[in-house]
Amino acid sequence: MESATPVIVAIDGPSGTGKSSTSKAVAAQLGLSYLDTGAQYRAITWWMVNNGIDIEDPSAIAAVAGKPEIVSGTDPKAPAIMVDGVDVARQIREQDVTSKVSAVSAVPEVRARITELQRNIAAAAAKGIVVEGRDIGTTVLPGADVKIFLTASPEARAARRSGELKNADLDATREALVKRDAADSSRKVAPLAKADDAIEVDTTELTLQQVVECVVTLIEEKRAGK
Ligand code: DC
Repeated sequence: MESATPVIVAIDGPSGTGKSSTSKAVAAQLGLSYLDTGAQYRAITWWMVNNGIDIEDPSAIAAVAGKPEIVSGTDPKAPAIMVDGVDVARQIREQDVTSKVSAVSAVPEVRARITELQRNIAAAAAKGIVVEGRDIGTTVLPGADVKIFLTASPEARAARRSGELKNADLDATREALVKRDAADSSRKVAPLAKADDAIEVDTTELTLQQVVECVVTLIEEKRAGK
């Protein structure tokens, strides 16, 4: 599908619903850019931890929220994330960052900073972009052309995450996921939420290929003016 008008696609949902795999595959298939906004929140969390900022203290986090330089690559086949020139793609997936990212991303100054970055990246994507996160359809890009909200049962999500993390304990993974979703959904600023005009897709019983096909069809229908 080639078109002169950039298409903006927002894919939101809790962790383990297949957001990243789906978003990357859809972007690659349609020749669009891709942005992993969770990686940006993980990157700023990694910087806070690395610089000894007290994660329990929102005012300490707010005071330095503007300091790290965060650069996101937008190639769906090779997504990159750099903090102050350092490639942190591996470090941001570590347990220490995962357990702290909800607290850091709840701080309004952090969200304002990262949201601005996200909007600039989306505006610069010539052919359009698939942006995945928690608040893209509601807050970051409320005018997105297509909004998808992915869901799946906690069991399916935990099984997917355990597979990614290799040897992770299934019950512990499910518990950690549910806890992180509760924190992300209950924060005051831009919580994890489905936009009123988003299309909900339950991926529990679907393969990745099926979810990708479903999202590509929705985008093509939208672009065809249906
Ligand atoms: O998608 P992920 O698991 O890599 O996201 C990590 C965390 O970042 C998630 O627990 C909440 C936060 N996040 C957010 O607050 N807003 C977004 N748009 C994306 C992620």
